[in-house]
Amino acid sequence: MNFDITEEQKMIRDMARDFAKKEIAPVAGRYEREGHFPKAILKKLAELGLMGVNIPQEYGGAESGVVAYSLALSEIAKACASTAVTMSVTNMVAEIINQYASEETKKRYIPKITSGEYVAGAFALTEPHAGSDAGAIRTTAVKKGDKYILNGNKVFITSGAYAGCIIVYAVTDKAKGKKGISAFVVEKGTDGLIIGKEEKKMGLRASNTVSLDFCDCAVPAANLLGTEGKGFEIGMTALNGGRIGIASQAIGIADAALEAAVRYALERQAFGKKISEFQAIQWKIADSATTLDAARLLTLRAAFLKEKKRNYTKEASMAKLYSTEIANRICAEAIQIHGGYGYIEEYNVERYYRDARVTTIYEGTSEIQRIVIAREILKNAE
Ligand code: CAA
Repeated sequence: MNFDITEEQKMIRDMARDFAKKEIAPVAGRYEREGHFPKAILKKLAELGLMGVNIPQEYGGAESGVVAYSLALSEIAKACASTAVTMSVTNMVAEIINQYASEETKKRYIPKITSGEYVAGAFALTEPHAGSDAGAIRTTAVKKGDKYILNGNKVFITSGAYAGCIIVYAVTDKAKGKKGISAFVVEKGTDGLIIGKEEKKMGLRASNTVSLDFCDCAVPAANLLGTEGKGFEIGMTALNGGRIGIASQAIGIADAALEAAVRYALERQAFGKKISEFQAIQWKIADSATTLDAARLLTLRAAFLKEKKRNYTKEASMAKLYSTEIANRICAEAIQIHGGYGYIEEYNVERYYRDARVTTIYEGTSEIQRIVIAREILKNAE
């Protein structure tokens, strides 16, 4: 077993780290407080090849693989989790189009994503009554000539107001249940696509989250991904990969929180010595560092399996479940180590804590990850 990353992976990680430190970290706190969507930063990420890390070069991607993607995303998340989730969903959208669209559709959309012409991509599956139960969506798509007419609404759509294109899931044949769901690429500005109000969130306030309404929204039939009825499979497969992204994001947030906690423990004095000299603090640091390392290993294993085109469904869910849960714990401990200072805005750890919270919810809750993991184990044991 080889735990070394390749020179190329190292180069991409270091480039992302450098960019995050110099250009994202200094503004991340302010952007989050002001709810400022980081358009200029996202464009620069595209210039660095980070909006298509696992996309072939012929479509403008970096073609550097899933491990490099995971490493880079963690570095971006360490500076700004809002930027990281935007990057994660945008890469996922580019990968969906690359995997399921016709050549013409790929050429039309992917270069716009990888070049930054589209500042982001969005993934519209969730509906007001259908979150974890993704198969229960009600948005419809009815074929009329060379168009599909979409009607319905979506909620909690990351980057929905800024995305150049959105992957939308809709029912084309109700009688077929989950096998009657199809996926479409919908361009920003299409008539009948209405951007709803922006949500005010607990964290990730520099990311954009909106509802979307589809009112007789006509989408070219050529924008159907795969074939009719393939949508649920496309969504689930995409989310397997997306979960590596969210695990990587959680790792970045936890890394930032632990680093801040260690720095503070070495500075803060109490009872006549540095608090780092107290065992109570040392144990928190040791536990945080150990679980963070375990999260990294789980996530890089899932990324490696995906890169090698092996089955990685269970491993991606394990990585997502574990990394997001421990990120919440590490952020909570980082605040505890900071004491009262951890609770105020001036110290970044309260932002990390708020940002980490949603990672156990979106792209499949921890409860859904456990369902996926158990199903895979039981299926393979039969
Ligand atoms: N990978 C590949 N295929 C999968 C799959 C997976 N992880 N999970 C299910 N499938 C396939 C099944 O194999 C099955 O295929 P066949 O019929 O051909 O056998 C088909 O999908 C239907 O599966 P189930 O009958 O098992 O479906 P279910 O309804 O019982 O449950 C679920 C599936 C796992 C609960 C699924 O609904 C799920 O993952 N829910 C969570 C949804 C989610 O993650 N939403 C995130 C929203 S997007 C977001 O958050 C993005 C963002 O903006 C940050």
